[in-house]
Amino acid sequence: MSTALRAVRGMNDILPGESAHWARFEACVRAWLAAYGYREIRTPILEHTGLFQRAIGEVTDIVEKEMYTFIDELNGESLTLRPEGTASCVRAAIEHNLLFDGGKRLWYMGPMFRHERPQKGRYRQFHQVGVEAMGFAGPELDIEHLLMTARLWRELGLAEAIRLELNTLGAAEARARYRAKLIAYFEAHLDALDEDARRRLYSNPLRILDTKNPAMQTLVAEAPRLMDELDAPARAHFDAVCQGLADAGIPYRVNPRLVRGLDYYNDTVFEWVTDRLGAQGTVCAGGRYDTLVEQLGGRPAPACGFAMGVERLLALLAESAWVAEETPADAYIVHVGAAAARFALRVGERLRDAGLNVVLHGGGGSFKAQMKKADASRALYAVIIGDDEAAAGELSLKPLRQAGEQQRVGLERAAELLKASRSHPHPQP
Ligand code: HAM
Repeated sequence: MSTALRAVRGMNDILPGESAHWARFEACVRAWLAAYGYREIRTPILEHTGLFQRAIGEVTDIVEKEMYTFIDELNGESLTLRPEGTASCVRAAIEHNLLFDGGKRLWYMGPMFRHERPQKGRYRQFHQVGVEAMGFAGPELDIEHLLMTARLWRELGLAEAIRLELNTLGAAEARARYRAKLIAYFEAHLDALDEDARRRLYSNPLRILDTKNPAMQTLVAEAPRLMDELDAPARAHFDAVCQGLADAGIPYRVNPRLVRGLDYYNDTVFEWVTDRLGAQGTVCAGGRYDTLVEQLGGRPAPACGFAMGVERLLALLAESAWVAEETPADAYIVHVGAAAARFALRVGERLRDAGLNVVLHGGGGSFKAQMKKADASRALYAVIIGDDEAAAGELSLKPLRQAGEQQRVGLERAAELLKASRSHPHPQP
């Protein structure tokens, strides 16, 4: 017995009806990135596992349990489907010496893979648009990233739906001091820790602050604050970022419990969140990672960036008035008979030479059945070719989306009329 073939759980097909939304979103994103001078980088979907282990951190959820990792049997190498894009960008920047003449503004778009429990807004293959600015110190780029994301939400009509949460993680030394304090605090309250928190107590205690467990909220709210450990430069950096947001009139909330699930961050971290998508409400997240380039073997270069979840943004857009219409074809060619079929191929090519979008009927069928298909295709015109027309080297043009007579014309005239109909809905013969 055959079992039906299905896509892998948590990995979605993007069907023709949805792909128009994706294409429109991608076009908006490209124009927005160009407005800030970012340039596209495309990296492989597979990388050596060690890259993600070193960049994201050994004791993170992603590296511990969410990576699609396998051994390449040909050479025994451990490879991983990329769970995010920052590590690959940094690897590529080092490998190709991209930062040799100064900072670079990069962006990427594409599928990422994490073996999480699938639910609405959380998938095993999902898509990110990511931005990385490498080789820039100081708060300007952090502010640029927050301003540019705020602009994108405005352009997409989502400004009301998404709010900004901001925090600073300071430098490594302050975090180490804080870590020790936090462990001592939680050790004093061992009974109140759930299993997850106990597991993380010594490996990644900051992540305990991120707990969703209602029973632990008071404990976490009363925990020592990293903000109190910050040294002067980190405090100044954070103040400047807050000032930049205030100057631009972008509201934000400082969330001292925002710690992020990847280890490479320092100083600014942020998340754009919505209440409209249930549990998976973070649509965009990022921050500064000043030590990652050096940690992965490059010359030290400060950097910051962010990535947004395309599925989550499209889900938000689907609730709003944002609709992407597919552009219908200019013409659908209906042809009955062997001579007509040969001529129809020529007609199609000639009309496309003239810059028109043309669908050629395939699979035979009666004239009536083909006209039904023409109508269902939403094309603006039917181009009708029978043996008669083929013999005369002509065709009949019938408007499908507006009133009007069918007219018989030559090929050149047909191309003119179809082109004119794009700007003038009622072409004259
Ligand atoms: P992240 O927070 O792991 O950060 O992911 C960024 C965004 O990707 C999330 O806010 C969410 O919208 C989306 N996302 C993550 N996992 C899933 C999933 N399983 N299903 C659907 N959407 C998901 C990063 O990946 C960092 N590389 C961001 C960054 C860039 N930081 C600096 N530069």
